[in-house]
Amino acid sequence: MLEPPIVRIRPGSPADAEAIARVYVKSWRSAYAGLIPNAVLIRMSATAQAREWSQQLSRRNRADSVLVADLRGAGIVGFGSCGAARSSLLPHAGEIFTLYVLPEHQERGIGRALLFRLFDGLIDRGLDSAIIWVLSQNPARFFYEAMGGRRIAGKEERLWNTTLPQTAYGWDDLRLLRTQGSDPTS
Ligand SMILES: CC(C)(COP(=O)(O)OP(=O)(O)OC[C@H]1O[C@@H](n2cnc3c(N)ncnc32)[C@H](O)[C@@H]1OP(=O)(O)O)[C@@H](O)C(=O)NCCC(=O)NCCS
Repeated sequence: MLEPPIVRIRPGSPADAEAIARVYVKSWRSAYAGLIPNAVLIRMSATAQAREWSQQLSRRNRADSVLVADLRGAGIVGFGSCGAARSSLLPHAGEIFTLYVLPEHQERGIGRALLFRLFDGLIDRGLDSAIIWVLSQNPARFFYEAMGGRRIAGKEERLWNTTLPQTAYGWDDLRLLRTQGSDPTS
């Protein structure tokens, strides 16, 4: 019988920057091929990303929180970040900025575990509602629907010389998720 994966969700540190960058670049190339220009994906560099993540994780009093999924024997296979919502146009106080799980480790409950721990972090900071923006053509939107997110807004953003339709999913009261015990990993 297969042993279940042992995943530890923990705060990311500057020492994790290279591993986070690897997950980031691999996830972008796998998830966004055909959705954003190829040139953007080809140009991506794990080294440049590692530098950016290292700076972000080293910042003192940083506002965003970054969590990593550390899998026994494999290291960091996913990560996510969250903080106060970047726009005040929607009533949701918190925002999930990133959430990525390596393709070969998807569909094992790691994305859900990360998302609910990010939600916990938002609640602990008094941010009781959350949104996430996702490319409208990204199948990941079905994951957010499965996690109880409600489609609340749409927009078209001009990026990299192309127009990218995006959809926002919202959770109006994160505390309900906690009391309903929707996270089987908690
Ligand atoms: C979206 C993502 C984070 C989900 O992570 P994951 O570890 O594969 O998800 P989980 O295994 O925790 O899935 C939890 C549930 O959602 C379902 N689910 C996951 N991805 C799904 C999808 N694309 N469509 C429909 N359901 C999905 C799972 O089947 C599972 O259902 P269950 O509760 O019935 O078992 C991951 O697929 C990913 O990193 N995708 C590529 C990057 C990306 O697009 N990130 C989002 C940027 S906004």
